[in-house]
Amino acid sequence: MTVCIAVPKELTPGERRIALVPEIASRLLKLGATVIIEKTMGDSAYCSDADYKQIQCLESANELYGKADVILRVQAPSLAEITQMKTGSIVIGLMTPHLHLEEIKQLRDKSITCFAMELIPRISRAQSMDALSSQASVAGYKAVIMAAHLASVFFPMLTTAAGTIRPAKVLIIGVGVAGLQAIATAKRLGATVEAYDVRAATKEQVQSLGAKFIDMPFTAEGQGGYARELTAEEKQQQQALLAKHIAAAHIVITTAAIPGRPSPKIIPKTMVEGMMPGSVIVDIASEGGGNCELTEPGKTIEYQGVTIHGPLNVPSQTPYHASEMYSRNLFNFLSPMLKEGELNMDWNDEIITSSLLTHQGEIKHAPTRKLIEGEQ
Ligand code: NAI
Repeated sequence: MTVCIAVPKELTPGERRIALVPEIASRLLKLGATVIIEKTMGDSAYCSDADYKQIQCLESANELYGKADVILRVQAPSLAEITQMKTGSIVIGLMTPHLHLEEIKQLRDKSITCFAMELIPRISRAQSMDALSSQASVAGYKAVIMAAHLASVFFPMLTTAAGTIRPAKVLIIGVGVAGLQAIATAKRLGATVEAYDVRAATKEQVQSLGAKFIDMPFTAEGQGGYARELTAEEKQQQQALLAKHIAAAHIVITTAAIPGRPSPKIIPKTMVEGMMPGSVIVDIASEGGGNCELTEPGKTIEYQGVTIHGPLNVPSQTPYHASEMYSRNLFNFLSPMLKEGELNMDWNDEIITSSLLTHQGEIKHAPTRKLIEGEQ
């Protein structure tokens, strides 16, 4: 039977991204699927109902859930939304499992199959599905634009009739996907850029973007290409070496994260006290508590003349392109499962087994199962 792919409105406050842009809706139709959306689903990303040609727009979410075999989303569904889903249907989204334990229990109990986009393995074959990377790219870009907006200085060097203005000094801490995009964006705006990460591999990447890498006497590679937590002694060394770079920077952008752990605290209050008045910290690690001791997630504060901005859900602030990239990631994940309009999954495929959160009444992702059901 032809699969019905449905996209409801996102109800999470502040979420402006959408799971399906018109371009991808057309591509799903071409694969033989039926596609339905909830009326005005795309409005928050400036995609109107009329842009979704040949797609049925339903007035009520309840009716949509009643027809849906596959539900595409950005954020995890609420308990009320899960109640409306059909038993045996499939949900795909950014599930942030550790923050949605009750919802995952309900998905398990309703025998709903749920795939978490953030659990897709970071292997070459899955790069086009990697929503963590696409959204981190948006965040890195936007962090620089936010910093430029809050800054008391220009980014580029300007030669004017009123004399020459020197370029801003920008420091990026944490050079994963977001940090690399932040470096590239700050360079394009003409700033002088320095960057630092605990992983040795980042030095070459930083230099290839034309920025200066700050060397440390140690590196801290963890598992799977991620960083590990630093020892107390390493943290001290890091702070001593970073202090003078932070003091000299007009803009500091922090993106450092360790999987499954709160964001590492890299900039203590004393370092902020050493910064120039008028300088800015944009801490996009604030989702995990922030890399600066003074960051208040979701707020912009000023401390001794230094602005500390801790934005949440940064990709949502560039909703059109963030949605376009995310929607393509979803398509690249879903399309190999679609054969002539029908679902045909390869349950031995590593991409499917790794991203599977719930299936047939069981929680399949071991760390989430442990959180909900304990050791078994
Ligand atoms: P992330 O968002 O987990 O962390 C951001 C950065 O913070 C990382 O580069 C990390 O090393 C750094 N960091 C952590 N603690 C730090 C500290 N105390 N001080 C300074 N920096 C610190 O990272 P993201 O962007 O998710 O990338 C993680 C890894 O995944 C990288 O190795 C990246 O190359 C890899 N990756 C692989 C892909 C693929 O093969 N398909 C796609 C995207 C990323």
